[in-house]
Amino acid sequence: MPTVKEILETMDYGPAPEASGEVTAWLAARGRFGHFINGAFTKPGETFAADNPATGEPLAEVTQGTEDDIAAAVKAARKAQPKWAGLSGHERAQWLYAIARHLQKRERFLSVLETLDNGKPIRECRDVDVPLAIRHFYHHAGWAELLEDEFPGNVPHGVCGQIIPWNFPLLMLAWKVAPALAAGNTVVLKPAEYTPLTALAFAEICAEVGLPKGVVNIVTGDGRTGAALVAAEVDKIAFTGSTEVGRLIRRATAGSGKALTLELGGKSPFIVFADADLDAAVEGVVDAIWFNQGQVCCAGSRILAAESVADDFTHRLTARLARLRVGDPLDKCTDMGAIVHPVQLGRIRDLVSAGEAAGAHLIQAECQLPPKGSFYAPGILLNAHPANPAMTEEIFGPVATLSTFRTPDEAVELANNTRYGLSASIWSENLTLAMDIAAKVKAGVVWINATNVFDAAAGFGGMRESGFGREGGREGMAAYLRRPAPKAQPEAAAGQLDAAPQAGAPAAPGIDRTAKLYIGGKQSRPDSGYSYAVTHKGREIGLAPLGSRKDIRNAVEAAHKASGWGKVTGHNRAQVLYYIAENLAARQAEFEARLHDAGHSPKEVTATIRRAFYYAAWADKFDGAVKSTKTRNVTVAMHEPWGVMGIACPDAAPLLGFASLVLPAIAMGNRVVAIPATSMPFAATDLYQVFDTSDLPGGVVNIVTGPRDELAKTLAQHDDVAAMWYCGGTEGAAMVEAESAANLKATWTLPNRDWSAAQGREFLDRACQIKTIWVPYGE
Ligand code: NAI
Repeated sequence: MPTVKEILETMDYGPAPEASGEVTAWLAARGRFGHFINGAFTKPGETFAADNPATGEPLAEVTQGTEDDIAAAVKAARKAQPKWAGLSGHERAQWLYAIARHLQKRERFLSVLETLDNGKPIRECRDVDVPLAIRHFYHHAGWAELLEDEFPGNVPHGVCGQIIPWNFPLLMLAWKVAPALAAGNTVVLKPAEYTPLTALAFAEICAEVGLPKGVVNIVTGDGRTGAALVAAEVDKIAFTGSTEVGRLIRRATAGSGKALTLELGGKSPFIVFADADLDAAVEGVVDAIWFNQGQVCCAGSRILAAESVADDFTHRLTARLARLRVGDPLDKCTDMGAIVHPVQLGRIRDLVSAGEAAGAHLIQAECQLPPKGSFYAPGILLNAHPANPAMTEEIFGPVATLSTFRTPDEAVELANNTRYGLSASIWSENLTLAMDIAAKVKAGVVWINATNVFDAAAGFGGMRESGFGREGGREGMAAYLRRPAPKAQPEAAAGQLDAAPQAGAPAAPGIDRTAKLYIGGKQSRPDSGYSYAVTHKGREIGLAPLGSRKDIRNAVEAAHKASGWGKVTGHNRAQVLYYIAENLAARQAEFEARLHDAGHSPKEVTATIRRAFYYAAWADKFDGAVKSTKTRNVTVAMHEPWGVMGIACPDAAPLLGFASLVLPAIAMGNRVVAIPATSMPFAATDLYQVFDTSDLPGGVVNIVTGPRDELAKTLAQHDDVAAMWYCGGTEGAAMVEAESAANLKATWTLPNRDWSAAQGREFLDRACQIKTIWVPYGE
C-alpha cells in the first residue's frame, strides 16, 4: 500500500474542466447572429465565423455590419435618446440595476462563453472579467441615482458610438455601456470581430429585462464597421484598442464636434526595487504579463529590476515561469489559455523574434502546448537594450522584457522612456520611495505593490500616446456628460497681417509701441525679423512681432525648462496669481486706456483682476480624491498638470480671453505657450512687466504673437506639447484636432463666448489629468 506521500509525489495532474453544455446549446440554437438594433435581432446578413481560439473550431456566425446597419442602429439610438434622458436618474438606476442582476444570474454562462470566444482561462472570466462587469453596472446604477445631485446642470452627449477590443470583451462593454446609460446617453456598440459573442448575449439580456428599445444597439463587424460608426451621426466616440487605430479615429473625428475618449496601448514599467518583497513581486509579474496571455493594455511588459537583486529575482521568476500551466482555457487549473486569434499569435511571434534578433535573450516556459489552437509559451526577454523593439513595441502577448537599473532616478528614466503612459507598477517595502516614484512616472494608473487591479470606482486611462480620457469613477462619469455649451458669439475679426514692415524700418507716425515676444521670461525678437501692423478702424496702433515655427519651438523649449512650476505648492502658485492681480490693478488705468484705444471694453481689466483672484483661490483647493474601491487599498486620484500646454486665445476679448485660458492652466501647474489675440496682441504683451514683477518664473508663460492658426498648427504638431486649447474658427479647430493626432495630445476647442462668465471647474478639469494611485492600506 503506497503512503500518502508517495501518492502525492506520483499523482498525475487531473484536469477540472468547466461544463460548457449550456453555452454550446445556446450557440447551436442561435447558429447565425444578426445585429441587435432597436430592441430586436436583425436577420443575419453577410456573416463571418467567431472561432474558439483554443481549438480553431467555429462557434457561431456573426454578421459583418454595413454602413446601412450602422445608420439603422444610430437612428434607433437617436430616437430613443430623449425619452431615456428624460427619465429620472432613479428610473435609469433601476434599469442598470436590473441589467446587473441579470448578468449576475448568468455569471457562469457568460464566463464560459467568454472563455470559449476569447481563449482566456475560465478562472479569470469567473473571478475577474464577469464579476467586474457586473460591478460596473451596480456602481453606475448608483451614479444614475446621484446624477442630479453630483453633476448638476450637466447633460448627456446624446448618442455614443463605442468601439471595443477583444482582450476583455464583456468587461470593456460594461466599462463603456454602464456610464453612458447612467448619464442618459443611448449607445451603438461595436464589439471586436474576434470576440463578439458576449456582447450578443448581453443584447439578449437587454431584451430580457425589457430595456426600452434603441437604448442599447450592438452592431458586429470588423474595422470597416468601426470606421462607419466613427463617421456616423453620433455625438461621442469612445474607443479602446490600438494606438494606431486611435490615431485614425482622432483624425477622422477632427472638426466634427464629436466628443472623444481614447484608451490605447501601453508599454508599462514594472519596477522592482532592492527592498521589494521579491516573492510578492514574482506573483506580481504573473498578474502583470501572464494574466490574460499578456493581452492587456496595461500589462507590466517592461520589468525593471534593481541591479543588486536582479539575479535573485530572475532566478525566482524563471522558477515560477516553469510552473505555469498553459492549456485548455476551460480547465479550472489552467493559468494561461489561448491567444485570441492566429493573427495575434503571428504578431507575438514576429515581435519576440525581432527582440531576439536585436540581442535579447528569450527564456520561455518549456510547457507542452495543446496540439490544436493558438497557444504560445510564456517567457521573458533578458538583456534587451532600450532601443530593442521588444522594449519599445507593444507585444500584447505573454512576454515581458527584464532589464536592470542602479538608482531610483535611473528607474524613472527607463520607466518613462516610452511614448506610452498608461500604467506603472512599483514594488518596494519603502512607501516613501514608492510614492516618490509614483509621482515621477508618466502613467495614468500606478499600482504600488500590486498590478492590474481594477474597480468601477477608480479612474482608468492613459497619458501621452496611451490616449486621453478616463473610464471609471467620477471622472469616467464626467466623460459621458457635458455642460451645455455657452452661447457662441461671433468671432472678432482676425488680425490684419497685410502690412508687415521689416523690423527696424522707421515706425510710421502715430505708432507708439513695438512689442516683442516673451520666451523664457525674456522679451525677444521674432526669428523672422518681421513685425505686423495692428490696426483699429484703419489706424495703426502698433507693431507686433510676426512669430513663426522657430519661435514656437523656442517657446516650447523654454516652457519645458520651467518644469519646476509643476512641483511648486498650490499655495505658492496662488501667491503668484494674487501678485499678478495686484500688479495689474496698479496699472489698471493704463491697460484700460490701451483696450479702449483698440476698440475693446476697458471692463476687461477689472474682470481679469478678478479672474486672477479666482484661480489663485482655486490653486490650493482643486483637490483630488480617495476612491472607495473594492480592494484593500487607498486609491487616490491626483490632479496632475499636463506639463506644457499650447493655448490659442480668442480675438474677441484680448485681455480677458487670454486670462480666462492661461490663468487656470498655470494655476494647476502647467507651463503655457500662448498665442494671444492676433488682432490685438498688446493686451497680452503688456502683461510681460506684470509677470516679471509678480515672481512668475521665466518660462511658465510664453507668448508668441502672429497669425493664430499658423502658430497653432506648429503647437498642435509639436510632440512636446501635451495638451492644446484652441479658441477660434471651426476650420482652425478642425486643423488643431487633426494635427494633434501625431502625439495624441488632448485638445479642447472652444468657440468664442461671453468671456465675462468664462470661469469655473470646467477650466480646471481641462487643465489637469488624473493619475490614479493604488496604495496598500489596512492589511
Ligand atoms: P484594433 O485597434 O485594430 O481593434 C480594436 C477595435 O477597433 C476592434 O473592434 C476593431 O474592429 C476596431 N477597429 C479597427 N480599425 C478601425 C477603424 N479604422 N475605425 C474604427 N474602428 C476600428 O486592434 P487589433 O488589430 O485587434 O490589435 C492590434 C494590436 O493593437 C494588438 O497587437 C495590440 O498591440 C493592440 N491592442 C490594444 C488594445 C488595448 O486595450 N489597448 C486592445 C486590442 C489591441
